[in-house]
Amino acid sequence: MTSIVLSDKILLSKTARCTAVFVEQDVLETQAIKEITNLFPALPDLMAERTFTGKALSTLLVSISDNNKVKHFLLVGLGKKNDSGHIDIETYRRALGKVIRTAEAHKFASVAVQLPHAGLIDGSTKYVAEQTVIALRMALYHFTKYITEKDRKFSVDDIVLLVHNHNESDIKAGIKDGNIIAEGVMLARHCVDFPPTELTPVELAGVAKKVAKDHGLDYKVFAEKELIQMGMGGITGVSRGSDSDCQLVILQYNCGKKDAPTLAFVGKGITFDSGGLSLKPAQYMETMKEDMSGAAAVIGAMQAIAQLKPDVNVIGITPLGENLRSGKATKPGDILTFYNGKTAEVKNTDAEGRLVLADALSYAVKQYKPDAMVDLATLTGACAYALGPFFSGLMSNSENVVENIERAAKLSGDAVWRLPFTDDYKAAIKSPMADIQNIGSKRYMAGAITAGHFLGNFVGDVPWAHLDIAGTAYNVPDLPYYRPETATGVGVRLLVELAKNWKQ
Ligand code: BES
Ligand code: ZN
Ligand code: ZN
Repeated sequence: MTSIVLSDKILLSKTARCTAVFVEQDVLETQAIKEITNLFPALPDLMAERTFTGKALSTLLVSISDNNKVKHFLLVGLGKKNDSGHIDIETYRRALGKVIRTAEAHKFASVAVQLPHAGLIDGSTKYVAEQTVIALRMALYHFTKYITEKDRKFSVDDIVLLVHNHNESDIKAGIKDGNIIAEGVMLARHCVDFPPTELTPVELAGVAKKVAKDHGLDYKVFAEKELIQMGMGGITGVSRGSDSDCQLVILQYNCGKKDAPTLAFVGKGITFDSGGLSLKPAQYMETMKEDMSGAAAVIGAMQAIAQLKPDVNVIGITPLGENLRSGKATKPGDILTFYNGKTAEVKNTDAEGRLVLADALSYAVKQYKPDAMVDLATLTGACAYALGPFFSGLMSNSENVVENIERAAKLSGDAVWRLPFTDDYKAAIKSPMADIQNIGSKRYMAGAITAGHFLGNFVGDVPWAHLDIAGTAYNVPDLPYYRPETATGVGVRLLVELAKNWKQ
């Protein structure tokens, strides 16, 4: 793993091949730029020639000769301050991503990054340090297990954070938490990126078990046979067409404080979604290993929560299964009975996420009576079409849960956008044959919202929010701290922040 260490040197870190300096737009007379100009007097000319003014995410690479060795400086623009007089934290995250992307393009094995001065970015020193480490580590993520060409496996080995004039103990605390959160995000991304035949439901349950063992969480798993006996017709109905056993995994973090609220996080874990008998066209099936991203987010977040030890109890629940076809597979027209006794007609076997979540949510409500519940699911293409890759869809029955989530989204960087969730849409999933049906009738459109209402049948009166991450879990373009064609780990940062700062 890339090391991230501190140094209180001002600019010239001894070892780094490249030193990155952030530049606020049109603020070019800074100490850092002066120091680089001392070594490279043509810098002002070069900046003028390249019209480098510090525009957000613009870069300028300066190479100098220092004792017969080439040394590089990378100026990265942060853009202008926002209305509150700060550089937007998300712009800063992307700028950090740019540093890593540039270092990789030029094969700089070591990089020094000068932390922006305190107060430039909205937030405490600890928070900025934490976010710095998370963004750097996210940008460093690779999935190279199956790449054999050495040349394509380049990674930055060392990062030095130049923290002159900052409170070092705050910085250290931020780095510590940042590393823990980033590792949770990486675990989730790694699980999603794994080929689906290697990461079956049983394998993924094994990952959760290891997390529990390594970090002191309670772990419980129910296998297919038990789930059938328990009356979980959703999970077992979806998994009937698969040769792999389905699993319901429960991870539990107990903060040990009396009267602490209990949060339940539930994540869809379809390790591969072929659509079942309502088969997906090849093009839509291509990335369906990503359909366990909700479960991966919950497992990654639980790993971080176990180490950060916030003052809330947290239950992580992941229904895991495969949606495949065989002579045993559930058919359109079949009716399933869920853990809470409700029934649904399966009109389309590709709308399977809501079926597995129905059991998991019912189980969470009945067994744990949580004070609030959040589910994450790559649930609908409709949500991905509506919001694209930059916002997860948020639907909720509780203003308090929405407030908590919107605050956590802003702080963590996992952006959400609230969708209307009025009762008007409920009529779309009425069934003539059963209590509800698993797709909305065409007249109502709004497939993300009708899917959310399906889930609403299984939450009782628990304050709850549903996050549709179909558009945000995989292959997000343009954000430099992500890598296209790989998983994003969306939801881990958000869930951790929710647990850290929950307000009942
Ligand atoms: N896993 C898919 C949704 C999805 C789409 C996730 C794109 C990630 C990217 C889900 O199970 C699904 O197939 N949903 C159907 C529902 C429809 C049949 C009502 C969809 O969105 O087409
Ligand atoms: Zn599906
Ligand atoms: Zn699915």
